[in-house]
Amino acid sequence: MKKILNSLLYVFFLFPLFIHAVQVTINNLQPRLDINGIIMDAHDGSIQQFEKNGLYYMHAMQYGLCEEPPNYGCDGAGMSSKCGFQMNHNISIWSSPNLTSGSWSYVGNAINVADRPAGVVFRPHLVYNPNTKLYVLIWNYMRWNLPSLYAVAIAETPSGPFKLINSALNVSRGGGGDFDILVDDDGNGYIVYSQNYYMSVEQLTPDFYYSTGKSYMFKEYFVEAPIFMKKNNIYYVLFGWCCCYCMQGSGVLVHTSNNPLGPYTLQAEDDLACVTKSDNSITNVQLKSVNGLPTPNQGCEFHNINTTSIVRSQQNYIIKVTNSTGYTTYVWTGDRWQQAPDGIKGHEPQYWTPLNFYENGTIGKMQWLDEFILNV
Ligand SMILES: *[C@@H]1O[C@H](CO)[C@@H](O)[C@H](O)[C@H]1NC(C)=O
Ligand SMILES: *[C@@H]1O[C@H](CO)[C@@H](O)[C@H](O)[C@H]1NC(C)=O
Ligand SMILES: *[C@@H]1O[C@H](CO)[C@@H](O)[C@H](O)[C@H]1NC(C)=O
Ligand SMILES: *[C@@H]1O[C@H](CO)[C@@H](O)[C@H](O)[C@H]1NC(C)=O
Ligand SMILES: *[C@@H]1O[C@H](CO)[C@@H](O)[C@H](O)[C@H]1NC(C)=O
Ligand SMILES: *[C@@H]1O[C@H](CO)[C@@H](O)[C@H](O)[C@H]1NC(C)=O
Repeated sequence: MKKILNSLLYVFFLFPLFIHAVQVTINNLQPRLDINGIIMDAHDGSIQQFEKNGLYYMHAMQYGLCEEPPNYGCDGAGMSSKCGFQMNHNISIWSSPNLTSGSWSYVGNAINVADRPAGVVFRPHLVYNPNTKLYVLIWNYMRWNLPSLYAVAIAETPSGPFKLINSALNVSRGGGGDFDILVDDDGNGYIVYSQNYYMSVEQLTPDFYYSTGKSYMFKEYFVEAPIFMKKNNIYYVLFGWCCCYCMQGSGVLVHTSNNPLGPYTLQAEDDLACVTKSDNSITNVQLKSVNGLPTPNQGCEFHNINTTSIVRSQQNYIIKVTNSTGYTTYVWTGDRWQQAPDGIKGHEPQYWTPLNFYENGTIGKMQWLDEFILNV
């Protein structure tokens, strides 16, 4: 009888608690696996939960299982056949209940290669538009001798399938490279994007298919890989020095404002991730690479030749992870180019770490963490 009571207690009392407060370990030393135990070929994308206790969705690039180029990650970038610069990269959709390695299920291809404008795709980002109640997927595509553009596609769910709605989002600087989208609490949408090595933010039309042209430009030169987020009514734009699949990783400059269209203030003169190369907190683990060499004068080295990224990564995206008491952890993710354990481009890992916010809104410096615990 006691046993029965115990199991009733478990079912009616403990079990609901258990499913709402899951503690997981995120490991940065092992490759991230899907539910079949296969290394995920998933890079430079967005990862987010759209409903409380719902699944996390990842919309990320599948580069394929070609070999990383020897030495610098962008060697041979001018030739369309080169690994990392092919036209058939898929925008893959993955889902997971708890973000752990081994928990990711492949949902599908967001849009067929034939149904999207031809180019080399980078940084797919999905957002929910509360004005149209549609999911809007935006990606950047490179067209060799023509400016890179942004394509916009829509779907009724994060799982797609997505339908192309605009093959050239009309940002006022013509086109651009890396970008991120912020959906503000009032439903306004903003894009932050880099073009010709400078960064801008720009307000989108209410459907997020076009730009309104209202914009603000940052003053830093040779920058890319932005993140646009809002926390406690402060707008944050984070980006770093250009790092073309660069192995050493890049910096994270934090800009804040009370207004999405600025003016923005740079948090401090230095960034969150670059440290001197002689810093002994850089371990051998972080330097492991089959093919790679740091690309001279890129990433941290552009700003200061004697520095390198403590997390060996180029900024990708921030995952918002809200636990059952409503506390949000901001998990920064960065791509570790040229550092696949087996030299295969599609197996290049991502580094994940929680960000440390001080009460005044300042973000603390990053550290290398082999692993950390997260309440999901
Ligand atoms: C994209 O998906 C198609 C269909 O599954 C596959 O044939 C192709 O190899 C994939 N591309 C890459 C780069 O993995
Ligand atoms: C995370 O999700 C996976 C896939 O559903 C599951 O197998 C695993 O047990 C979960 N992990 C935890 C700690 O709940
Ligand atoms: C972009 O196109 C939309 C729709 O035609 C238009 O309303 C908007 O003014 C254009 N924006 C810019 C920056 O040209
Ligand atoms: C980098 O280190 C070298 C050798 O110590 C030094 O001469 C140079 O000034 C340093 N450069 C910067 C930008 O700090
Ligand atoms: C949620 O996170 C906050 C801050 O770390 C912590 O105080 C709280 O106990 C967490 N709640 C649960 C259910 O884990
Ligand atoms: C914010 O708080 C941190 C930690 O207390 C401190 O180091 C930093 O100087 C503060 N920044 C500003 C702008 O007040």
